[in-house]
Parts: sequence; structure tokens; C-alpha cells
Amino acid sequence: MLLQHSGFGIAVTGSGSCTPQVTLDNNGLSQMVDTSDEWIVARTGIRYRRLADDRTSLCDLAAEASRRAIEMARITPTDIDLIVLATSTADDLFGSASQIQYQLGATKAVAFDLTAACSGFVFGLVTASQFIRTGIYQNVLLIGADILSRWVNWSDRGTCILFGDGAGAVVLQASETDSLLGFEIRSDGTQNSSLNLAYKAQPKELIDGVSIGQGAFHPITMNGQEIYRFAVKKVPEVIEKAMFRANISVEEIDWLLLHQANQRILDAVAQRLTVPAEKVISNLANYGNTSAASIPIALDEAVRDGKVKTGDTIAAAGFGAGLTWGAAIFKWGR
Ligand code: ACO
Repeated sequence: MLLQHSGFGIAVTGSGSCTPQVTLDNNGLSQMVDTSDEWIVARTGIRYRRLADDRTSLCDLAAEASRRAIEMARITPTDIDLIVLATSTADDLFGSASQIQYQLGATKAVAFDLTAACSGFVFGLVTASQFIRTGIYQNVLLIGADILSRWVNWSDRGTCILFGDGAGAVVLQASETDSLLGFEIRSDGTQNSSLNLAYKAQPKELIDGVSIGQGAFHPITMNGQEIYRFAVKKVPEVIEKAMFRANISVEEIDWLLLHQANQRILDAVAQRLTVPAEKVISNLANYGNTSAASIPIALDEAVRDGKVKTGDTIAAAGFGAGLTWGAAIFKWGR
């Protein structure tokens, strides 16, 4: 294939989000498990979460978030060359991105899923950007979407209080100037057992001497304290690395946009980086941890509220299962 362009930069030109209608507050959770609004707010900052009912698919949420992002970018679905869906909870294990492509009518695009848990959006941003940088594609739709409520153990008070459902999307476009200033993505499997949504196989003998493992995925298990320690240590490091690559200082960051896992993690990371609280984007009180969707939902709200303005520099960082973590420094807008 001939390269159409070379050396193109990236512009982040549209955002959109979509969360389910159903809201569960902390008092509702305290009817299900031994917890309280006070405990959850003090330990996490979360007050509400949106939950997808049995008629709401991941593709529906993702497609709606995408339509809003595409509209803001002032392009049409047929302009899109590539769709990357960051998710750990696809409607179909074979992948859901091409179903979203169909729902959008993005007939020219190629679409695929990418899985990196709560780091999925940042990993997706870096992945999608490579196709623009090499000049292969000009218009990319990047979606972060998850319905973790399908996989939460609703009788485990250590995890069920944390998660919510939703989708966010951004449009990335080829541009003369490059708004992706620097990034760093990392993974480390040695702590994989700290956070899992794992398949557990049972032996099944097909015929004499031929046995396979057939089972099911089991609900999320998490060592909360390990994940907390990991996040507070590794996230500042990876943001500093991305800032070094971008050749900018912390004072030049307008917004710190972290994966919305826990307010205490957001506060601790901001403190380590010496980013003042008013520069930290936080909406987790309303949505909880929406996994790969949390960064693009928070970005979209901040853009539509007029907080994030064209040319603002954003330090985004995701972290989660894998373990995976990563940061990207980018400017908002054309
Ligand atoms: N309500 C009341 N009490 C509770 C609850 C609850 N919902 N959950 C735990 N407790 C109790 C524990 O049983 C424990 O009691 P004990 O001392 O009698 O044993 C006590 O509270 C303290 O428990 P800890 O687990 O030490 O509480 P901690 O302060 O660590 O907070 C939390 C737990 C909120 C889960 C925290 O560890 C955290 O947020 N970790 C990070 C998790 C995270 O962000 N995960 C997602 C990563 S993203 C991804 O990829 C999906």
C-alpha cells in the first residue's frame, strides 16, 4: 500500500460520551452489602454509578458516544478510516468494534478491539496515533467503553462499590501540527493476580484421550491495597516520563486527567506531581470507575462544560489490570 502522507501530526478534534440511564447510589448499595454512604465517599469519593440494564449493549453505548464525537469533529461516519474500541467487556469475545462500525455506517473504516483494562483508552490513543503518524489514516475514531457491572461480584463489598458502566469516544485527525506531545505505556504481568476477570476452565473429555478446558469467566477479584499502592507509585512516574518526552514542565500542564478509579488516588498522584487540585479533572462521584471509558467521559464533560479549551495541554494517564499503565500528553482541539 502506498503511503498517502508522511510525518503527519495528530489533532484531537471531537469528543462524546454516553452513560446508561439507571443510577445506583451508595444507599442503594448498602441495601445489598454491609457498607455505607459515608464509608464509600470517604474511601473512594464515589456517590453514584450508572448501570446498563439487560437491553443495553456495549455497542449501543459506544455508538452513541461515537456519534456525539463525530458530530463535534464535524466529520461524517464515512470519513472514518479506523475505529479502535478499547474495552474489556465486549458484547462478543470475537470483538465488538465492527458491530459499532455497522451501527455508525462507517463503511470505509476498519475496526478492531483493543484490551488493556482501565489503561485501554491511553493504549488506544497511542495505537491509533501510529496510523496517523505514518500517514496511513487521516480520521480515527477511538472509543473507550466498558460494562463492568456484568462482571462484578455484587456480594463483594470490596469491589462492587467501585464500578459503573459507560462509553466515551474521541476523533483523532491528521494535522499539520502535532498535538500528541509525548507518551509512555507500560505493562507488568508479575502482579497480574492483583486484579482479574479470569476464565476458569473445567476439564471436558471430548473422546477418549482428547480433553479440553471448557468453563466460564468468573467475576472480578481485586487486591485493592496492592492496586492502590501500584497506582500511586507508577502513575506519577509514567506521567513524568511522558512530560520528559514532550519536553514540558508540570507548570505547563493545564489539566491532569487520570483514570477515574478513586479520588484518593487522584489526590495522591496530583500531590506527588505538584499539580494543584483545581487542575485535576474529576467526575467519579457521579460515575464510579467506568474502566476504559472513564478518561474519555471525563474529557467530554470537561470540554462540553467549557473547562477544557482549544489549545489546553492535558496529561492523561490510565492504570489497571494487567497490570498496565500509561500516560499521554496532548493538546485539545484543532
Ligand atoms: N464498606 C465498608 N467497609 C468495607 C468496604 C465497604 N464497601 N470494603 C472494605 N471494607 C472494610 C474491609 O473489610 C476492612 O475491614 P477490616 O479492617 O475489618 O478488615 C476495611 O474496610 C479496610 O479495607 P481496605 O481494603 O484496607 O480498604 P482501603 O482503604 O484499601 O479501601 C478500596 C478499599 C477503596 C478498594 C481501595 O483499596 C482502592 O480504591 N484501591 C484501588 C482499587 C482500584 O482502583 N481498582 C481499579 C483499578 S482499575 C481497573 O483496571 C479495573
